[in-house]
Amino acid sequence: MSHWLDIGAIAEMKFEPGAAVKAGEHWLAVFRVDDGFRVIDNACPHAGAPLADGSVLESRKVACFLHCWEFDLDTGQCDVGEEWNVRTYPSRVVDGRLEVELPDPE
Ligand code: FES
Repeated sequence: MSHWLDIGAIAEMKFEPGAAVKAGEHWLAVFRVDDGFRVIDNACPHAGAPLADGSVLESRKVACFLHCWEFDLDTGQCDVGEEWNVRTYPSRVVDGRLEVELPDPE
């Protein structure tokens, strides 16, 4: 099961290039793309660098700033291997605020 969580007003998010946003227990990285937003885990699975501070590539991937591993913003797929994929979260805009769909706690 899952639930939608309001993670804040879009106008107040600082996209540099991603915005790091706390959602419950963990941090998410929010990216603005041409058709909306993409939300992934903020912590790089390699050594924990914040992916919100990475570089967004034209291929719609983010490159981690520490060791340049790349993650697809649509699928979370890592270019090094699927065991390093990050989670992606559906998002929607409601009255200027961003909501993400998170799994319910187990
Ligand atoms: S910490 Fe992200 S690639 Fe190493």
